[in-house]
Amino acid sequence: MSSDRPSPEAAALDPERLPRHVAIIMDGNGRWAKQRLLNRVKGHEKGADSVRAAVKACREVGITYLTLYAFSTENWQRPKMEVDALMALLKKFLQTETEDLLTNNIRLHAIGEIDRLPDDVRQALDHVLTQTRNNDGFHLILALSYGARSEILHAARGIAAEVAAGRLSPDAIDEAQFSEKLFTCDIPDPDLLIRTSGELRLSNFLLWQLAYAEFYFTDTLWPDFGKEEFFRILADYQGRERRYGRVDPEQAS
Ligand code: IPE
Ligand code: IPE
Ligand code: MG
Repeated sequence: MSSDRPSPEAAALDPERLPRHVAIIMDGNGRWAKQRLLNRVKGHEKGADSVRAAVKACREVGITYLTLYAFSTENWQRPKMEVDALMALLKKFLQTETEDLLTNNIRLHAIGEIDRLPDDVRQALDHVLTQTRNNDGFHLILALSYGARSEILHAARGIAAEVAAGRLSPDAIDEAQFSEKLFTCDIPDPDLLIRTSGELRLSNFLLWQLAYAEFYFTDTLWPDFGKEEFFRILADYQGRERRYGRVDPEQAS
């Protein structure tokens, strides 16, 4: 994950109009493997290289938050063999990347029902979270056993408990207060969401936080996703006008 000299595609981007936070639904590992008559797990293994490339690309241009959907609450329903392999890969990733995270001032965050992860994976995760706690150069957020509906319910329960205890009035609940109760409380909302593999859905990802994100869907399968495509997507993003419901000042007459 060390940073190289900026590539021409990266240099062509306007540094003033970069997304602060990019979120990616990393999809298509299984189909990548199937196309090569390989086991699905091989696709997940290759996908780990694309994770490294995405982090590198963000750091090269100066994006400071990257959230990666690595495992959903629904993914627990996959065959045990695949779930076990994904957990083993996650543990290996955590162990092998720690040094790079520390060298490059990267803080790791995790969002999701972390207590559902196997003990050894949770321990490896806790270790990296603690070790990188004071880093602030770049924020890598892994969504693990993550589901947006479960996150929103968790927040609603937290708010309800405060109301029941008499510490909060229902009238005082606002968007900022609700956001505080989400797993992402210390992370700004994503500006850009990318989903690979051609699927046009959110699959229970960041339903609250993506309210005003720009969406980009690509047919590329995640193991084939690299820096060049990432930079092309960023160039596309820079051509968009984010209006937030308002009227473009030049059109307002
Ligand atoms: C994404 O790839 C990785 C996870 C969901 C863990 P998939 O495993 O969903 O790949 P496809 O969609 O079957 O190709
Ligand atoms: C979404 O991909 C979850 C992750 C990328 C981790 P899935 O492959 O699980 O989503 P569906 O089943 O196509 O909606
Ligand atoms: Mg999939």
